Amino acid sequence: MLRIGVLVSGGGTNLQAIIDGVEAGRITNTEICVVISNNKNAYALERAKKNDIPAVCLSPKDFEERKFYNEALIQTIDSYQVDLIVLAGCMVILPPELIQKYRNRIINIHPALIPSFCGTGYYGLRVHEKVLERGVKVTGATCHFVDEGTDTGPIIAQKAVEVLEGDTPEILQRRVMEQAEWIIMPQAIDDIANGRNKIFGTK
Ligand code: GAR
Repeated sequence: MLRIGVLVSGGGTNLQAIIDGVEAGRITNTEICVVISNNKNAYALERAKKNDIPAVCLSPKDFEERKFYNEALIQTIDSYQVDLIVLAGCMVILPPELIQKYRNRIINIHPALIPSFCGTGYYGLRVHEKVLERGVKVTGATCHFVDEGTDTGPIIAQKAVEVLEGDTPEILQRRVMEQAEWIIMPQAIDDIANGRNKIFGTK
């Protein structure tokens, strides 16, 4: 059984896609052991509680120094003995020690086709604003392993989504979620859980 910990910051629709995937048998051999949010108001925490998944809030604001937050985050993740950390709309910069300790055991979903529209400053709705500003006709989402860079780790899966006339950032965001994010991330977890990903866990 693959034990996963999901890190969130907001609405948690990607978390929901994972919960639904496990429930429906699209993701097998997987247990969601904990959901951790840096934001106490994140609706993702409610989604976890509704599904009897331990929901933990750890905010850097509640710690005097960043290093104490980093230590608490690592300790919490370790205490649930997770095999895979899933960043599902997680907006905190992870401690380098965590990335090193969980080398090729952390995956992220990014709302664009990496290496386009990624890196520092590209997150959430902003990504779609930039896509529309630039006038590109195809965007999408990328699921990738997390390394010390921003959106630079090995790519696991990508799916393209059309940009349509009249799109607003919100409309485009929803289409990218529905047609790409909620599909490729659960699929990546199922692949990892069933030994079909060769990078998972390598040093
Ligand atoms: C998603 O679109 C995800 O791709 C994005 O934040 C949103 C979270 O939505 N993540 C990033 O931008 C990370 N760089 P959700 O809370 O409803 O899953």
